[in-house]
Amino acid sequence: MTTGEDIFDQAAGNIEGLGLTEIPFTESPLDLESEIRDRVFTGREKELRQVFNLFQSRERRRILVYGQIGIGKSAFLLEVLSVLRRKRPKMLVTYISLPANLDLATTALIAVAREMSDDDWAQRQLNEMGIPTDKALRDRTVEAGANNIFTAKLSEKNVPINKLQYSTISLETLIERAQKKYTDGVLIAIDDLDKRNPREVRDLMHDAQGILKGRAWFMLTGHPQGTMGDLLTVERGLFDLQIPLKELDAKTTYQMLVNYLNSARIGNDCSDPNNPNSVLPFTQEAAKSFCMKSRGKPRLFNRLGSKVLATAADLQAEKIDSEVLSQGLKAASRTLREQAALNAKEEQIRLFLEQRGLLSDEEIKIEELEQLGVRSFSELMPYLERLERADLAQQSDREDATVYEPILLPAANENELPDSDDTPMKSYLKD
Ligand SMILES: Nc1ncnc2c1ncn2[C@@H]1O[C@H](COP(=O)(O)OP(=O)(O)O)[C@@H](O)[C@H]1O
Ligand SMILES: [Mg+2]
Repeated sequence: MTTGEDIFDQAAGNIEGLGLTEIPFTESPLDLESEIRDRVFTGREKELRQVFNLFQSRERRRILVYGQIGIGKSAFLLEVLSVLRRKRPKMLVTYISLPANLDLATTALIAVAREMSDDDWAQRQLNEMGIPTDKALRDRTVEAGANNIFTAKLSEKNVPINKLQYSTISLETLIERAQKKYTDGVLIAIDDLDKRNPREVRDLMHDAQGILKGRAWFMLTGHPQGTMGDLLTVERGLFDLQIPLKELDAKTTYQMLVNYLNSARIGNDCSDPNNPNSVLPFTQEAAKSFCMKSRGKPRLFNRLGSKVLATAADLQAEKIDSEVLSQGLKAASRTLREQAALNAKEEQIRLFLEQRGLLSDEEIKIEELEQLGVRSFSELMPYLERLERADLAQQSDREDATVYEPILLPAANENELPDSDDTPMKSYLKD
């Protein structure tokens, strides 16, 4: 009889058969403190340089990192913070993912207060908001046997947090207290503004002008489109530095694959991309093709990577050659569609985009808009953005027009679909 344990062993054995201890790809970024995160983070040198140049000054600054979902904003932010924690021990470096329904001042206050566990006043603020503090947390952790309850709780949607009446003043007071101990200042990193809708973000930022111009350093992450974009032009000077994150180039993507695989490979830590061993269990050819399919988009890269490895393990393959890769990508394609859970209309638009290969506000015809049941291209945009968030479409980098193209993976029958190889990807590969 096959027991659950046998099956577990088989699963582990299949991954080991690929020469790996585990599947290294993850959809969401690894923790700030994770050693693995340090090892897999790749590229973004120009952007890191811009940020760290600012940190050579005493003047506190406001920095915005923006880009599409999955492009690597959180990962970039965490890389910056982890370097600062090591290099600037006298700076209080805090991080928080923006909780639902909270203003920026309260959010910032929580971020700072929970890093000041030996400051009674800070802890009292948290208690007043109904947020478990270190001591309460320790008690609960023992109960639940997990150590990330705090973060889990904050990111849950409907946790009622009692808002402080004077959050801005409390924040100022807290920052003053912190600065007595941390002479290099306080950095407040607020992540995930990209998960809120643009109108909310506009209101949030509007209300937060005061605190943003206050005594702390700020780093925020946001989405480039719509209101965030408008806001940046209207509120000129709100940020000292705005960093757009774009797709990684082909070479960096390949190095990223090397780094991820290296972080999990058994007995082979070759990280020289010119050596074929560096991408094992991928063959070099499959590795290149994999990178191309992931289009330099880190989240898509991770999503595809974990499905490809899982598929290879299921097949009990020892290597990932083009054939195994194609199987893996097919499986990934199915998963992306399932995860997207499109409704009928969204699916209609996805199919239309797939058949047309491209949709642009300049070229779309009135009959086509009618066929899709919309009156204008701008009515189509929310659907296209939805497809983009699900890694099923992407906006092309064009200044003169709004253009979307489908992200195509090998379908059940490869030959029936146009392959994305003959799309603008060619230019991206020349890097
Ligand atoms: N430069 C990078 N090097 C390695 N992994 C990255 C990089 N950028 C992003 N990732 C990984 O890609 C996934 C998606 O990135 P994430 O930072 O969550 O995107 P965003 O915050 O823009 O939605 C995460 O697993 C993250 O760790
Ligand atoms: Mg993010």
